[in-house]
Amino acid sequence: MAGNPRVEFEPKRDLVLSYTTPIVYVKVHDSEALDGELKRLILTEEKAKPGVTKSNIRGWHSDTDLAQWDKPAVKTLFGLIDPVVRRLSGFLVGREPWGGGMRYTAWANVNRAGSYNKMHNHPGFHWSGVYYVDVGERDANETDSGKIEFQDPRGFVSMLPIPGKPFGQTTSIRPRSGALLIFPSFIYHAVTPYTGAGERISIAFNVLLEGESGWKKDAEGGRTPSAT
Ligand SMILES: [Fe+2]
Repeated sequence: MAGNPRVEFEPKRDLVLSYTTPIVYVKVHDSEALDGELKRLILTEEKAKPGVTKSNIRGWHSDTDLAQWDKPAVKTLFGLIDPVVRRLSGFLVGREPWGGGMRYTAWANVNRAGSYNKMHNHPGFHWSGVYYVDVGERDANETDSGKIEFQDPRGFVSMLPIPGKPFGQTTSIRPRSGALLIFPSFIYHAVTPYTGAGERISIAFNVLLEGESGWKKDAEGGRTPSAT
């Protein structure tokens, strides 16, 4: 004899987590000497070039040719970033490591007290990221100084935010020096005003993935959950 209808919902088994958004935040170990050299290079460049205005309000934004600077420290940095982007891309398509090409565009940011970056995203690329050369000094009275904030990319979920994490919330990260952050380029993000002493120095980059066999098939294939 059949029992009464019942349901035993077990999130680990029965929950399909769709539309999760990958954000990498990983520390580069023993980065102090590299960071010192990058800081020296960037501040020298800042003295020599007027910079450009993009999302930066008051801060200095270098030209977007940093990935091509012929400097050992820059080559070292991108030698550290590239395997992470390659592993991340391969992991997400279930085929590690990513075997296609990667085209980088990069620039330096120098924010001093009062500088911030307004909300923006990076059209035309797959991944964007930031390497934090020197996050400057903390202002004890201003806990939101120099944070990067990500908007929930699922458009209208903010119409009815749920307390806690699930929908319509902002993800906020207070970076540390020597940390590497990578996120999908479509996510809108902003940097809160930096209020500490000295400079908050970062290197931002965009990555275009290209030329991996099988990519087109996966991009069209989608993913279909099935209940058993
Ligand atoms: Fe950005």
